[in-house]
Amino acid sequence: MSGSPKHLLGLRNMSAAEINEILETALPCKEIVEREIKKLPTLRGKTVVTLFYEPSTRTRTSFELAAKWLGADTVNIAVSTSSVQKGENFVDTVRTIEALGADFIILRHSMAGSAELLAKSVDCTVINAGDGAHEHPTQALLDLFTLKEKFGKIAGLKVAIVGDILHSRVAKSNIYGLKKLGAEVTVVGPPTLMPKEIEQLGVKVETDIDAVLKQVDVVNILRIQLERQQKGYFPSLKEYARLYGINRARLERANKDLVIMHPGPANLGVEISEEVSVHRQSVITQQVTNGVAIRMAILYLLSGGGSKDAILH
Ligand code: CP
Repeated sequence: MSGSPKHLLGLRNMSAAEINEILETALPCKEIVEREIKKLPTLRGKTVVTLFYEPSTRTRTSFELAAKWLGADTVNIAVSTSSVQKGENFVDTVRTIEALGADFIILRHSMAGSAELLAKSVDCTVINAGDGAHEHPTQALLDLFTLKEKFGKIAGLKVAIVGDILHSRVAKSNIYGLKKLGAEVTVVGPPTLMPKEIEQLGVKVETDIDAVLKQVDVVNILRIQLERQQKGYFPSLKEYARLYGINRARLERANKDLVIMHPGPANLGVEISEEVSVHRQSVITQQVTNGVAIRMAILYLLSGGGSKDAILH
């Protein structure tokens, strides 16, 4: 990447050129993902460690596949059976992993800023796989790649992000990326789940979901974080589904070409109905597949990879 950054911690401080370089590099990676035999020697000799303090299906697995298909060795640290359970602290854990030979540490942690702390504590390359409510940069990059694949460009697209904006790292990274590439972003959700001064990020704030869905090209539906519902941000899941859930009736009133996204995992019947999640206008499955291509591109570029076409050789 331009300026050869060592880590990927978030999109807030990335330039449009750096984001576009990742999206361009993911194109040949997608070609590899679609091949019958996917293995390349590009990262042979490198070791990629995934260290996840929070649950994950898509991000952890796609990083592991991306690393394997580029020829790297991979190790997954299951925090629940690691020495973290004996009281080992975060910095000691990551220094131990580095001493064992890691070239990349992919970190997911509930603490905002944990990836930055890790990057300051080790010499190896750090990739943020989601830090608290702060950023989830690789999710936003795969969302941008999926939109570019669908529409050919991001500039001028009208994108609505719906739901729990307050706690969502996916929303924040998407807002940074979409705005840098020239999209118009509207956020919609209960006022209790809307961060104060969110407009300062250059987004419009709306509460009338039906009016917004008539005007936008894309809706990115966020997961309602059930683990936070005891704090009473909205009266009940049934009420949330009625006011903001995307179901068939709501889709029928929306722009007829609306593209439906969800980062997963979804609470079917709450923020999205099962029928909408598998609707022909949904690109949720493509998002998951594109996650591998984007993570291959990121590993390749952060390892000092050259031109995007060199990845195939
Ligand atoms: N979208 C996302 O981060 O999913 P996982 O929690 O399954 O990784």
